[in-house]
Amino acid sequence: MTATMTEIMPDQSTGGLTISGMTLHPLWLRERVTEPESLDHISNQRLYEHSDLDTDIRIVSATIGDNSQHLNVCFSDGYKAVFNFESLTKELGLSQNPEAIPLPQSWTADLDFQRFDWAELNDPDAMKTMLTTYFENAFCIMDNVPSELDSLKDHARRFGFIRVTNFGELFNVETKPLASDVAYTDSELASHTDNPYRLPVPGIQYLHCLTNEVDGGLSTLVDGMAVAEAIANDNQDWADILENVPVRFRYEGPTGIYEDTAPLISRDHRGLVNHIRFSSRVDFVPALEPEKLTLFYNARRRMHQLCNDPAFKIKFPFKRGTLLMMNNYRLFHGRTAFDGKQGHRHLQGCYIDHDGPQCLYRMLANGHPETHIMSEDQ
Ligand SMILES: [Fe+2]
Repeated sequence: MTATMTEIMPDQSTGGLTISGMTLHPLWLRERVTEPESLDHISNQRLYEHSDLDTDIRIVSATIGDNSQHLNVCFSDGYKAVFNFESLTKELGLSQNPEAIPLPQSWTADLDFQRFDWAELNDPDAMKTMLTTYFENAFCIMDNVPSELDSLKDHARRFGFIRVTNFGELFNVETKPLASDVAYTDSELASHTDNPYRLPVPGIQYLHCLTNEVDGGLSTLVDGMAVAEAIANDNQDWADILENVPVRFRYEGPTGIYEDTAPLISRDHRGLVNHIRFSSRVDFVPALEPEKLTLFYNARRRMHQLCNDPAFKIKFPFKRGTLLMMNNYRLFHGRTAFDGKQGHRHLQGCYIDHDGPQCLYRMLANGHPETHIMSEDQ
């Protein structure tokens, strides 16, 4: 987008600049100068402390460059800067920003979702399409993924750095006939989110199927955004108490004690649901007044009903080579029951942080297909 002369003019009252009806503070513009003495063009980091700038700075003049792609600005401290219109308008939301992470779209059981072939993701456009689906739906399913033991380390590394937990880099969800460990039963797993007691909670979970010889054991997913919307539609007081009561989540085992306190539903600065914490075995609400607790218990029960409601749930089988990538801050996940005596079922899992796929998406948007290379510097 370019702007015409009539759309740009110094604002006398603030000392700033008006672009397409938006008045920009002079310091807002001054902090965005890109001249080489002010900005390192390798790291794109400022070469000065913004607190050192004159707080009374004003824009003295602003003119459009010859090619209409640039804006020449003189500041009252004598600094002259040339701004790229496109950079400014993208940041102001006046033009499309290719780096903008696609917005989440809530979904229910009738979601018609695309699956992705692992080999095709070598094409940067296919990878970007896959990531777009991930950001919108909060999950993606990939097929024909190489399935050697521990190969998930390499697969997940494509999207970000593995988050090591007390389970190690990878964890195993393995059920064998006559398994002796109760953790590896074949019973149904109700909808939950993982590790709400950890700080920070693991962001993105991968589940990679190495072997599946059983008929059941379908993976289940439910969209926390859709559940939050439904709760608010039912009763705004329920939504409010779930978003405001800090709940203590605690895991205590032989090798560690983990605890954190947070609401069951959190929102970001845009009002979008950005963190669901729901694990019915490890949550402890504070001893509030009985009326408040009654409201909380009713709201939490409704949340439990909705996240296990078939109208909200999608189900799909795991077969060798299936790789599920899901946002543990937005989705509930679970599993249907199966008969463990039928055969061997082995999934491997791991976590990465949210910023990995976001970084990859931005790099792809800028034509850089390679990312997540170890850097020597912070
Ligand atoms: Fe889980």
